[in-house]
Amino acid sequence: FPWICFFQKSAWYLRKELPVRIAHRIKSIRNLPFILGCNPTILQVHELYIRAFQKLSEFPPIENREMEGLYCQLLQQLLDDHKDVVTLLAEGFRESRRHVKDEAVIRSFLDKTLTSRLGMRMLATHHLMLHEDRPDFVGIICTRLSPKKIIEKWVDFARRLCEHKYGNAPRVRISGHVAARFPYIPMPLDYILPELLKNAMRSTMESHLDTPYNVPDIVVTVANNDVDFIIRISDRGGGIPHRYLDKVMDYHFSTAECSTQDLQANTILGNMVDMVNSGQSSPMHGFGFGLPTSRAYAEYLSGSLVIQSLQGIGTDVYLRLRHIDGKEEAFRI
Ligand SMILES: Nc1ncnc2c1ncn2[C@@H]1O[C@H](COP(=O)(O)OP(=O)(O)OP(=O)(O)O)[C@@H](O)[C@H]1O
Ligand SMILES: [Mg+2]
Repeated sequence: FPWICFFQKSAWYLRKELPVRIAHRIKSIRNLPFILGCNPTILQVHELYIRAFQKLSEFPPIENREMEGLYCQLLQQLLDDHKDVVTLLAEGFRESRRHVKDEAVIRSFLDKTLTSRLGMRMLATHHLMLHEDRPDFVGIICTRLSPKKIIEKWVDFARRLCEHKYGNAPRVRISGHVAARFPYIPMPLDYILPELLKNAMRSTMESHLDTPYNVPDIVVTVANNDVDFIIRISDRGGGIPHRYLDKVMDYHFSTAECSTQDLQANTILGNMVDMVNSGQSSPMHGFGFGLPTSRAYAEYLSGSLVIQSLQGIGTDVYLRLRHIDGKEEAFRI
């Protein structure tokens, strides 16, 4: 049975691995300062994880095709149940974090929880997608990913949002290694690129409020080499003021006017991709999660996210990610 080698190995790995990872998340929620653990929204996340742990750990050994099919159903159900966890955490911590003196506790909890969640979603989605026969894909790995294509996809998305909010949107020019193609996982880029592009568009529009129909282009440069690839997003939106520079990477830091009120009405990162696919609109800004989450994701994948602000001119954001087929092991999910 070829089935045995292919899907079973992957399913067995997940069946063993996911409950362990979820148990660690539950433990870290329980270790939060008491006042945070009392927050109803954080409690809701706690319960979601406990339910997932129960369902996954009581799943019987996967010995045949039928069992594997049921396991896939469970994975899909959990992916759906957990799609709003980022929003729930953003909301839960927004108010309650005021009561916690040590900011580092919150940062390390959110970094760890969000990246671990990304890892689990990547593993589960990979298993589900192994069953699909998509050209150029093996599970979640695109065998010939074009940075230019994926950037263009998210440029269209961000421009639509921006036009909706500001009546116009900056054009985006893509330069550098525009013809590059290599194996990579689109999923993390699908979270990071829209965040960076939305930020660049917002600052461009808000620094040109008197000439909204004549705004400077955003320039995206792609650089590819044996070790990694770099995507630099340069806007002419005036830069990040000195006084905010060491805050912009903090969770919940935002200069958006409506940063607190809109939260319930909308959902963020977690299901951004779903929203694009269903044609719904999502907010342009306002949660203060875009940059810190993007940086945590990039670092989780052995990369980095670095900001250079040219105050008075604009901002350059450097997203650097390691290749998955390099000589050394790039990262473990
Ligand atoms: N390209 C940029 N130019 C100028 N300021 C920026 C830029 N990118 C980010 N900022 C500043 O950093 C803050 C934090 O950015 P971040 O993306 O984390 O949150 P946000 O955009 O306010 O909300 P969201 O969670 O929806 O992304 C922004 O509110 C803005 O003040
Ligand atoms: Mg943002």
